[in-house]
Amino acid sequence: MSTSSKRIIICGTDTDVGKTIVSSFFVQGLKAIYWKPIQSGTEEGTDTETVRKLLNLEPNRYISEKYKFKASVSPHWAAEKESDFIEPNNLEIPDIDKLIIIETAGGLMVPLNRNWLQIDQLKVWGAPIILVARTGLGTLNHTLLSLEALKSRDLNILGLVLNGHPHDDNPKTLEQFGDTKILASLPIFDEVSANKLSREWDQQKLDQKLKQYISNRN
Ligand SMILES: Nc1ncnc2c1ncn2[C@@H]1O[C@H](COP(=O)(O)OP(=O)(O)O)[C@@H](O)[C@H]1O
Ligand SMILES: [Mg+2]
Repeated sequence: MSTSSKRIIICGTDTDVGKTIVSSFFVQGLKAIYWKPIQSGTEEGTDTETVRKLLNLEPNRYISEKYKFKASVSPHWAAEKESDFIEPNNLEIPDIDKLIIIETAGGLMVPLNRNWLQIDQLKVWGAPIILVARTGLGTLNHTLLSLEALKSRDLNILGLVLNGHPHDDNPKTLEQFGDTKILASLPIFDEVSANKLSREWDQQKLDQKLKQYISNRN
């Protein structure tokens, strides 16, 4: 497996859908390295800290953010508030021959600056994408729109991860209209822990579903 294929991008249909929890799920399961290139809202803590604590990661298992902003607003505006500017050329994926799980800032159409959207960056990165979506009401519209945006740009969709209380109909409807697979579904945990994520990984046979990443693990 070449270095360029050792990257997976975790994007969401929305903010707060569970990208950080799902990133932790994959970082642990695939023994990968975590990277959150753009973090806004640092006053409420950082996702890197959340993942580091949750998985008890050594420093060589995560890469520092490229941009960090205090305000909990869209990255383009968070940068402007600090007289800064997100320069896409600075977002090159670090040249490491290990699997990197990259968590995006917000959803696909979030601006990184006034003329560059998150999805433009995904096109430059060119890595396979996992889309995190809610299970309940509203997810059909958000998820199908996101998938359409990815497909219309010829981006490589690895699959969906659903996060939330199980739903009777949405999973099959998303697979049908979205023409993609649900890789995993995470329930709502009383308290999120590395052990609980590990149990879900095994029960949902993720090693088997992601064979290509397991056999070439770091
Ligand atoms: N499956 C889950 N069970 C319990 N809490 C969850 C779950 N998924 C997300 N959360 C909680 O919801 C909040 C938002 O999740 P997070 O992963 O940070 O979303 P995002 O990264 O998309 O903004 C966090 O407080 C997180 O702990
Ligand atoms: Mg997050």
